[in-house]
This record gives sequence, structure tokens and C-alpha cells, in this order.
Amino acid sequence: MTRLLDSFEIGGLTLRNRIVMPPMHTGRATIEGAITDDLINHYVLRSKALGLLIIEHSYVAVEGKLSEKQVGIYDKHLIPSLLKLSSGVQATGTPVVLQINHAGSKANRDITGIKPISSSPTEDARELRVDEISALSETFAQAAEWGIKAGFNGIEVHGAHGFLLNQFSSPLTNQRCDEYGGSLENRLRFPLEVVRKVKKKVGDKLLLYRLGSDDLDPSGTQIWESQKFAVKLEEAGVDIIDVSGGICGSSPEKLQGIQGYFIPQARQIRKVINIPVIGVGGIREPQFADKLIQEGNVDFIAVGRKLLEDPDWAIKAIELLRKD
Ligand SMILES: Cc1cc2nc3c(=O)[nH]c(=O)nc-3n(C[C@H](O)[C@H](O)[C@H](O)COP(=O)(O)O)c2cc1C
Repeated sequence: MTRLLDSFEIGGLTLRNRIVMPPMHTGRATIEGAITDDLINHYVLRSKALGLLIIEHSYVAVEGKLSEKQVGIYDKHLIPSLLKLSSGVQATGTPVVLQINHAGSKANRDITGIKPISSSPTEDARELRVDEISALSETFAQAAEWGIKAGFNGIEVHGAHGFLLNQFSSPLTNQRCDEYGGSLENRLRFPLEVVRKVKKKVGDKLLLYRLGSDDLDPSGTQIWESQKFAVKLEEAGVDIIDVSGGICGSSPEKLQGIQGYFIPQARQIRKVINIPVIGVGGIREPQFADKLIQEGNVDFIAVGRKLLEDPDWAIKAIELLRKD
């Protein structure tokens, strides 16, 4: 029986256990998106006993920036400071992946000075032209290449929480009538183009996709659609699917208090693919996390807010489970 503390071999790496720190924005970068010592300390403090750490969403283009002190990966001058972060975390024995993102219509115009873009027009955003969509997938690929040059063990493409790629995949935000909208196949076209181009740059390093698996809305993305998407992500070379919610966000109010609230979706995704799956959502107790792994629901457990609250959560979990 597999346990939370069992190691996992993937892409030439040994992840020492199944505990993952999911990407969580800190607002600790510089205004230009460069890494600070404060940000490195934040991650090094939490990384010591993890299996894998995923760094918060970094913006691939200035027009896709969400918040003032967000980490950036939009220019190669950022590589040296990112290298300090990746090597700092790796020195603790934990592989580290960088999440890349474009906020789409959620980008902050006050910060970027540019009218936001999206799959379809909104009150604040304009619709992307087809030639711009193609250029944007190159932008993601370029960011991934810089991320790998900055020493990360892999890249996670952010496809959840209502940001640009999710604005294409969800029927709630995509009203296009061309080849990028309408049918499921069309809505997935842009996210899959991004993944294929990113894969070429990532090479033999890890490629993760954060999947907005469920919009929790009868008119939104349904789990059967996400299962089809997951199969395509596997075919496109994704190594791990990190299952979260979609347009509903990462911590929907109505699910708070439920431990493991996105695990049912992750379990459904895992059933149809052969690559590992990360499950997340309100996980607090090591024994609960261990049980989820033992029962074969998911391959990895992401613990977010608990690790923010207690940097030693993983160390304490290991001590506790070793006593069992
Ligand atoms: C402060 C904060 C920042 C977050 N930033 C990101 C992010 O940058 N990228 C992302 O995919 N999810 C982000 N999330 C969502 C978390 O990765 C995670 O999915 C969510 O918090 C649920 O897990 P938890 O209940 O263990 O905290 C963030 C969550 C929090 C609380």
C-alpha cells in the first residue's frame, strides 16, 4: 500500500515523499517581478521536508500581470534572481517547479497600463485576435525556456482559477465562434497549443498543468470534459496534472471546512490517465492526507494554507506518521 511518506521517481528525480506545496502568491517580489531575499527565505523555510515545491504564479508578459509584487518571467534579465531561488530550494533536497501564468481579463490595468485581453470581450477586456493567440503561445514557451534556464526542475502551466487559459477552456468565459471557441475541442485548442510549445522548451524537465477541473456551475466546465482534457494533456507530454477548481477559484466559499474538497475531481481525473495527479483543497491533517494516498485517490497531496500558517507542517507530519 502506498503511503504519504513514500518516495516517487519521476523524470530522473526522486521526490522524497508525496507532500507538495502548491503555488501560492506571496507579493514578495520587486515591482519589476524579480526575486527578493525575503521571497527566497519564505520558500526555503517551508521546503525542507517536502516532496515537491511549486513556486507561485509568475507573469509571462507585462499585460498579463495580476498584482504589484508578483513574480515575473517575462524577460531574460530576471533569470539570475530566479536562479538564486531555485538553487536555494534545491539545496534543501526539494525539487522546485515554477508556475507560469497570464491573467487575461483579470490583469490589473492600473499596473500594466494596457487594456486586458481575453478569449471573449468583457466589460474591461478585449477579445484576442487569432494572430495574437498564436503569438501568446510563443510567449508562454519563451517564459518556460527562461524558467528552465533559471534552474527549475520543471514548469507548471496555470490553467485554472479563471486566468487566461481557463478563460479559453471554460464555456462560461469563452463565447468565441471561431476555431478557439464553441465545442470542447475548440475551447481546449489554445491551452493545448501552449502546452505543446512549452513541452518543446521544457524537454526532459517536468511539465505540470494546473487544471481548472470543475467550475461548480451547471453551465460551466464539467468533470467529464476535464477528463477528456486530461487525456489530451497526457498525450501532449504533461508529466503531472495538478487538479484544482476552475472559474470558481481555488477556495470556493461553499467548500470551505471540507477537508480535501477538490479530491473527488482529482480522483475522477486519475481514473482516465496514466500520469500522476496532485489533489488539493483544505487539507489539514497528516493522517487524512496519508489515507487519501493509501486509498489511491491521488498520487500527491498539496497542502497550501496550512504550510503558510506553519512552515514546519511537513516536518511535523513526517514525525507523526513515522510513529504510526
Ligand atoms: C494566498 C494564496 C495565494 C495563492 N496563489 C496561487 C497561485 O499563485 N497559483 C495557483 O495556482 N494557486 C494559488 N492559490 C491556490 C492554492 O495553490 C491552493 O490550491 C488553495 O489554497 C487550496 O489549497 P489549501 O486549502 O491547502 O490552501 C493560492 C492560494 C492562497 C491561499
